Amino acid sequence: MLSRLSHPVATLKSSRRVRALRLLASVSPALAWTVGAFVVAEAVLPNLTLIAMGRATGRIPAAARDGLSSGAGHSLLVALAVAGVCYGFSLLRGPAEDALSSVVRARMVVTLQRRLVTAVSAPAGIAHLEDSETLDRLANVQGQLMNAAPADAPMTIASQLGGWLSGTMACVVLSTFRWWLGLAMFAAWIAVRRPLGQLVRTRVSSFRAAGEPLRRAWYLFALATRPNAAKEARVFGLGAWLAAEHRTHYVSGLTPTWHEMRRQGRRVATVAVGVFAVFALSAGTLGWTAYHHEIGLGTLAVMLTMLPSSMTVGTVSMTDFQLEMMLTAVPDLDALTDSLVPMADAVDAVDDTSAGTSAGTVDPAGMPRRDVVFENVAFRYPGGESDVFSDLNLTLRAGESTALVGVNGAGKTTLVTLLARLRDPSRGRILVDGLPLNDLHVRDWQKQVAVVYQDYTRYPLTAEENVTLNLLGGPVDDAALRQAAERAGATDLIDNLPNGWRTILSPQYEGGTDLSGGQWQRIALARALYAISRGATVLILDEPTAQLDVRAEAAFYDRFLEITQGVTSIVISHRFSTVRRANRIAVLDAGHITELGSHTELLAQAGTYANLFTTQAAAFTGGRKRA
Ligand SMILES: Nc1ncnc2c1ncn2[C@@H]1O[C@H](COP(=O)(O)OP(=O)(O)O)[C@@H](O)[C@H]1O
Ligand SMILES: [Mg+2]
Repeated sequence: MLSRLSHPVATLKSSRRVRALRLLASVSPALAWTVGAFVVAEAVLPNLTLIAMGRATGRIPAAARDGLSSGAGHSLLVALAVAGVCYGFSLLRGPAEDALSSVVRARMVVTLQRRLVTAVSAPAGIAHLEDSETLDRLANVQGQLMNAAPADAPMTIASQLGGWLSGTMACVVLSTFRWWLGLAMFAAWIAVRRPLGQLVRTRVSSFRAAGEPLRRAWYLFALATRPNAAKEARVFGLGAWLAAEHRTHYVSGLTPTWHEMRRQGRRVATVAVGVFAVFALSAGTLGWTAYHHEIGLGTLAVMLTMLPSSMTVGTVSMTDFQLEMMLTAVPDLDALTDSLVPMADAVDAVDDTSAGTSAGTVDPAGMPRRDVVFENVAFRYPGGESDVFSDLNLTLRAGESTALVGVNGAGKTTLVTLLARLRDPSRGRILVDGLPLNDLHVRDWQKQVAVVYQDYTRYPLTAEENVTLNLLGGPVDDAALRQAAERAGATDLIDNLPNGWRTILSPQYEGGTDLSGGQWQRIALARALYAISRGATVLILDEPTAQLDVRAEAAFYDRFLEITQGVTSIVISHRFSTVRRANRIAVLDAGHITELGSHTELLAQAGTYANLFTTQAAAFTGGRKRA
């Protein structure tokens, strides 16, 4: 018995509508109560207006006969006044709903975004951001897949609930005339609502299943509309192609299961005939009783208006479709939270058998003091066809600079992501001062690794914030900031900005400006150097100077040793003028380190490094041995 009772309660609690409303209640109880009051007004006001108008209509003949000062005249005036007041409040409903919607939306957007950002930032690694299912969910919760904003769900539910209650109330009023009539109308509307609702759900679930083509379509659309890609889109004449591709993906995503929809459409048509019959029966009964003077004009006027008013029990409109789309975000948000938040501070599992996903507890402050050792490391990207590393062994000595050399795609950047624990090796391990990297506190370790990635981020923040990334509001170390800028060769650049350090580095903001690729690279270098001065112990430059002019690069590397004194550094570069200055050079080829030694040692070995070096040197000295 208890389980029978608790089952519907459990179903109700887990219903997506209830969960969306509970989300609102958790954001702001006061707002939830206001929305509740709105539902009541939505349910009651239209019917009250109609009932008062009907009653007024019923008083008209007697009032016309006896005059306004008679009893009938007074009750006509009272009924009109009540109708007027109700109508007045009904007029306020629109603006009130509008204002309430914007407040609810704003609060919901903030809450949803916070939950999203918390979920996607929970893992220390980045593999989940390449997982198709996670990306579908992310896009859907942001309202991108179906173009319906989940933040609007609570108000849409409220508005619908109000409509449904209003229709139910009209049925109740009809029951005061003939009990079976209100019940029949109610049953007829419920009967039509079911297949209509099913139709809507079928369409929406086919949309949701098409996450990938829809995401592609949105991506292509963004390509055409964002400034960076728009440059290439123009130069390469991609406009028409983008439009055509967008259309193809969008249509393939939106083509629902037509067969299923036709079947359901026929059911809806059948039920609609039933509703028409009940409607005709009700109107006929009312007419008949009025004709035989069993009811007066007032009752007839009230009951006739209640017939169409009861319709909101059963109508399914575009709003239902949109609401259904908004509600698909509820399970997606829960799934994101459930799958990602428990992984807080762990690195995403590369595969299920991977043991190395722990967060670690050892404080890495000051490490490495001796070395970082890659021990038989193998790595393959999730879904990748072959290993990037099969059996990689490499020792990075603490306080020394190691240059990493290898052709495009050799795995240099991948090695950096393993060292920064953005991903874990599939096999083998990385040891820091003899301790497995997995034992170190992952977030603290990541803070200690200062990387200038090849595709470093150009934040639309001030120059100062771009270097310090001081988003947590801590104090900025001015001396360190100036020193980092000076060492990265960014001082002149900052001095020439219209607002100095306070200039926003994005032309999309007022007073903002953009920088050239080389200038941005100096900012990114300064960012890493600032991090070093704030306690980072490992500096990684992944092709950091590729966009600098030759003089700037030479100037940077002239001071490189001084800058990186005591810092364990890795430099990845194709320029041998850069590479040769490193303490040691490692050649990465086919998933292994094939050569390791100083510039002089490797030249003496006459292997790959020597070959590459002489080829590049020959190109500069006018030799014919170009690669
Ligand atoms: N996110 C990724 N998913 C799958 N494969 C990747 C990913 N990133 C890189 N790869 C592949 O891994 C290999 C090594 O890439 P990378 O480390 O970037 O090379 P490098 O930096 O030496 O040019 C390449 O074959 C590349 O295609
Ligand atoms: Mg790379």
